[in-house]
Amino acid sequence: MERFYITTPIYYVNAKPHLGHAYTTTVADSLCRFHRLMGEETYFLTGTDEHGDKIVQAAEAEGKSPKEYVDVISGLFRDLWPNMNIANNDFIRTTEPRHIKVVQDILQKVHDSGDIYFGEYGGHYCFGCERFYTEKELVDGLCPDHQTKPEYIAEKNYFFKMSKYQGWLKDHITKNPDFIRPEQYRNEVLSLLESGELEDLCISRPKSRLTWGIELPFDKDFVTYVWFDALINYLSALDYPEGDKFKKFWPAANHLVAKDILKPHAVFWPTMLKAAGIEPFQSLNVHGYWLIKNAKMSKSIGNVVEPLAMKDTYGLDAFRYFLLREMSFGQDSSFSEEALVGRLNADLANDLGNLFNRTLSMTHKYFGGEVPSPEIEDIVDAEIKKLGQNAMQSFQEHFGELRFSRGLEGLWELVRGLNKYIDASAPWTLFKEKNTGRLSTVIYVLLESMRKIAVHLWPVMPESSENMLKQLNIVFSPDKFNLPKELDVWGVLESGSTVAETSNLFPRVELPASADEAPAKEKKAKGGKAEAKAKTTAEDNGTIEFEDFQKLDLRVGTVVEVEPHPDADRLLLVRVDTGEEAPRQVVAGIAEHFSPDDLMGRQVVVVANLKPRKLRKQLSQGMILAVKSGETLHLLTPSGDVAPGSKVS
Ligand code: MSP
Repeated sequence: MERFYITTPIYYVNAKPHLGHAYTTTVADSLCRFHRLMGEETYFLTGTDEHGDKIVQAAEAEGKSPKEYVDVISGLFRDLWPNMNIANNDFIRTTEPRHIKVVQDILQKVHDSGDIYFGEYGGHYCFGCERFYTEKELVDGLCPDHQTKPEYIAEKNYFFKMSKYQGWLKDHITKNPDFIRPEQYRNEVLSLLESGELEDLCISRPKSRLTWGIELPFDKDFVTYVWFDALINYLSALDYPEGDKFKKFWPAANHLVAKDILKPHAVFWPTMLKAAGIEPFQSLNVHGYWLIKNAKMSKSIGNVVEPLAMKDTYGLDAFRYFLLREMSFGQDSSFSEEALVGRLNADLANDLGNLFNRTLSMTHKYFGGEVPSPEIEDIVDAEIKKLGQNAMQSFQEHFGELRFSRGLEGLWELVRGLNKYIDASAPWTLFKEKNTGRLSTVIYVLLESMRKIAVHLWPVMPESSENMLKQLNIVFSPDKFNLPKELDVWGVLESGSTVAETSNLFPRVELPASADEAPAKEKKAKGGKAEAKAKTTAEDNGTIEFEDFQKLDLRVGTVVEVEPHPDADRLLLVRVDTGEEAPRQVVAGIAEHFSPDDLMGRQVVVVANLKPRKLRKQLSQGMILAVKSGETLHLLTPSGDVAPGSKVS
């Protein structure tokens, strides 16, 4: 059985968890679940990095001892993860004895082999970064990250002979294209290694300056530099060197980090492993930053916690879906509530939610809730099955290569394809014509395909995936399902089993009117759905409030059936698919301008919340919008093909 070990950075405890930490950890969780469903044995580690100057300063600022302080903040991280459905196998802290012991063992080993030496060093030290900078690296004499003036410090310290391994590292990266990915970061590291001599790494701090660290095993007057300490967590959590976990999961290690800590992971870490005689890890996977209104998230801007609060406003799974779908792995991405609401409504409520709602309710209406046995096959069934196979394959390939956004896009080809399959097969007509043979196949194809979609979504939205499967009367367990097998099997869903009557997992949400200013925590959540609060300001000069406009429910629909009104020449009965269970009928006075054929298949805009009424004995559920220009009537239509039911706003 293949093995997959995934790690996140261990987070500094000088700040509370925020969106950036949540993103990396969610990606790790999704990847871990994905590999589990690919049939691999997985192990998932996260934790906290608790030593060093930064932590001492943060503790002092709160009037606490370092130990008291790190216990509190580490607890915030530890407690957050279960709330985000993060299923890590272990949570490591660098202040734990199991970690300290391994750091000291490795230091001793590298010291014994002659790769650590004692020397004097003078340099520009930035306390924020906890590292020395060379003159060349400073920008106008300031730290490039903190824009503060570093302090010149000259002192005796221990050094790791990192330069000795420069050639080996360059060679290893060149020979293993997946060692650092995506490619832009691999190139960045290669050009760093090619551009000049790698310096040796100062790996100690004199106790006269810092005591909050791991003591060097060979000199009591020094503690270990925080990076030499922290990176080793990836081994100490596996009980290196004798532990079963180490034997099982090393070197199947896949590290996940953002671009801020590329160099320690791509240069310090592999050379440290090499010097200690340990095989290099399998891959380093580097993502970009989440930006908020195009600014980097930072404590001082005060924009760090708010996005995380949106998981409570809009639901955890929608939030997880958004993070994976929105960011193109490796690139920076901008976080906004508008984008989150947009994705939720378009992809989850409209596409996925509608598919489930419509199909489940049709199964109840036409088959009393029982999964029918497929009977009469048609070419369209073979086509949709093929589309499904391609979609699942695309999901699996992209996901495995960390292209989450493209993977989900691939899977959505099937979600959207199935909605179109409903429209094209028109089950309501098959029912009316009593064509049960064909109707049962259509409903079966839909339900079995929905099962496949739900299984594929488990890595991204575990709770919703399990609920979707429950609605199909299937109890999920990761050992029961295998993604590659889903490419070949068909007919797993048992005919005769009963499915749920409604789904309603992803209700549509409205963006609060003042999304730009209101902090997320003030926004009301009701049954997982955010609601806009309408102001009741009086109308003025015939203008209306934005909230009044919002009362209109305008939706795009596709015309699926048209017939003349039996009692009125000017009227047509237009049936429009607005993403609901069955098309809605609109009685429209447009017969003089359009023949039924002109209208078939066109996308129109419908006022969906107009009170239904009868026009010449025929029920009209809405109004189709049109513009008159001279004598010609033009239908209002979107400039591109959109999913039926999409809201006009
Ligand atoms: N303690 C070190 C890591 C040691 S690992 C051996 C550290 N900690 S940190 O708390 O600063 O975490 C940095 C990591 O948090 C990033 O690499 C990334 O995983 C995550 N993020 C923090 N801010 C982020 C964004 N704005 N956007 C995306 N991820 C970010 O560095």
